[in-house]
Amino acid sequence: MTGISIRDVSKTFQVREESFTALDGVRLDVRRGEFLTLVGPSGCGKSTLLDLVAGLAAPTGGEILIDGVPVAGPGLDRGVVFQQYALFPWRTAQANVEFGLEAKSVPKKERARRAREHLELVGLAGFEDRYPHELSGGMRQRVAIARSLAFDPDVLLMDEPFAALDAQTRESLQEELVRVWERTGKTVIFITHGIDEAVYLGQRVAVMTSRPGRIKEVVEVRFGSRAGDLRADPAFGEYRHLVWSLLRDEVAAAQAQERKAASVHG
Ligand SMILES: Nc1ncnc2c1ncn2[C@@H]1O[C@H](COP(=O)(O)OP(=O)(O)OP(=O)(O)O)[C@@H](O)[C@H]1O
Ligand SMILES: [Mg+2]
Repeated sequence: MTGISIRDVSKTFQVREESFTALDGVRLDVRRGEFLTLVGPSGCGKSTLLDLVAGLAAPTGGEILIDGVPVAGPGLDRGVVFQQYALFPWRTAQANVEFGLEAKSVPKKERARRAREHLELVGLAGFEDRYPHELSGGMRQRVAIARSLAFDPDVLLMDEPFAALDAQTRESLQEELVRVWERTGKTVIFITHGIDEAVYLGQRVAVMTSRPGRIKEVVEVRFGSRAGDLRADPAFGEYRHLVWSLLRDEVAAAQAQERKAASVHG
């Protein structure tokens, strides 16, 4: 199938003498052009899974295929927005956004134009010449988002990209992202802790179990139309409730695990 195929993937880390299973038997297919949101309790392995799809780490078991080809490392077909904004501190906002375009050998003038256009898209017109330390946390994250969109990869892997933003900025970037996705047909995997955000953005919402993470259930989200205020649609509340109840048990299990670990070590 075309798209991303995650087949029985597990990931074990070696932490000092012990081996630590973060993911165990993850199975998930993301269709080409699909927008999938991924939710799960803190520590269940969401970022780990995204790293594997990005090719930044290798699974301990199973395999990940993109359009039928096993992932063997990072590639220009995939763009990542990390949970911790990863900007080059010695580059301005503009130069950070241009970075990915340099890798793709986009000519200089075109690079500058696309970078400016995307900084404007995320509400940062006028901040092109600022260095990361001269920007707020939310602004840095927006530079990272602009960089990944300007880079224009087929697959966008986004790890809680809007978590550090105020509610208004978040909503406008959510809308912008949906527009970009509708226009370009990218395949998107988007991690979030926000149930509203997951239901608003995703065509499907994959819910993970507590660690070791597996896919607990995938909820198909269908609205009559995306036009109008989706959040006011009664179906929105129903999906929200369904995802919330699937998550609730897993979050409780994750918290119990943490308490147990704390009592062993304390
Ligand atoms: N390099 C590593 N070495 C050892 N353990 C790791 C490593 N990376 C992640 N882990 C462990 O794997 C588990 C999953 O981590 P991960 O960052 O994927 O969780 P997450 O679902 O993204 O959590 P959050 O929602 O808090 O971001 C955690 O228990 C974490 O401590
Ligand atoms: Mg994470």
